[in-house]
Amino acid sequence: MQTLRDLDALREAVSAYRAGGERVALVPTMGALHAGHMALVEAARRAADRVAVSIFVNPRQFGPNEDFARYPRKEQTDSAMLKRAGVDLLWMPPVEVMYPEGYATNISVSGVSDRWDGAARPGHFDGVATVVAKLFNQVRPDIALFGEKDWQQLQVIRRMVTDLNLGIDIQGVLTQREDDGLALSSRNVYLSPEERTRAVALPRALGAAERAIADGADPEAALAQARETLTAAGFEIDYVALVDAATLGDPAEDRPRRLIAAARMGATRLIDNIPVDER
Ligand code: PAJ
Repeated sequence: MQTLRDLDALREAVSAYRAGGERVALVPTMGALHAGHMALVEAARRAADRVAVSIFVNPRQFGPNEDFARYPRKEQTDSAMLKRAGVDLLWMPPVEVMYPEGYATNISVSGVSDRWDGAARPGHFDGVATVVAKLFNQVRPDIALFGEKDWQQLQVIRRMVTDLNLGIDIQGVLTQREDDGLALSSRNVYLSPEERTRAVALPRALGAAERAIADGADPEAALAQARETLTAAGFEIDYVALVDAATLGDPAEDRPRRLIAAARMGATRLIDNIPVDER
């Protein structure tokens, strides 16, 4: 595995793959890798000849009161995991390569970014869209993989790729979960053992609401029940909503729908989502 921190070296490596007629997949991450990230890497290996993974803790997608400074950084173990998984190239741009002095461009994907995490975390999706567009232009992959865990993020990126004619095939990968159902997240390490036990209420509440809605219950009643379950477990709710799966706007019965939620357990903000009526 090549570990690169310099843009010219990156361009050279990817050009060499291309010259050999190989297809390149990119898995963008912020590191502190877990089995959720590794599922993206596995899917990337199946989808392309060469796999590039980026690790960059992107300051532009963290709000002023968020966890940028304490976000877990695990360069050594991340690198070892990726090497073992057969990754070809690890792209770790220093912040001054990503945002040099004078950097001034922002990408804002309106509509799909506006509500939910976009409203709860102002500027977050601009930061994500901007860094992902830059990563795409740096690596120039044929394919890029993102987790369904961050459902709204996945839809923001699909919209951006379509709107800007980036010509990159975006693949979503199923959310990977702990045995009890909690979605894997780099932020789960912030939970105390006692909070971790209570956090299982999040996937359980979404699952129960999904079954109720699929069985014909009034969605508002099912969402109210989910909110009650989360509050009883000690969560502070940001949102629990039934949305159009692609636009994140109001749901329509004849289009795919998604149940999405964000809630805080102590100082830790967790998100999750599941498809509705896919059975
Ligand atoms: P990060 O949180 O490190 O996640 C990197 C990728 O892993 C994202 O596509 C995310 O959806 C996926 N992922 C995380 N947990 C997952 C799980 N339990 N199951 C499946 N996939 C999971 O998301 C980001 O970084 C950043 O916003 C980034 C896209 C890299 C831009 O900075």
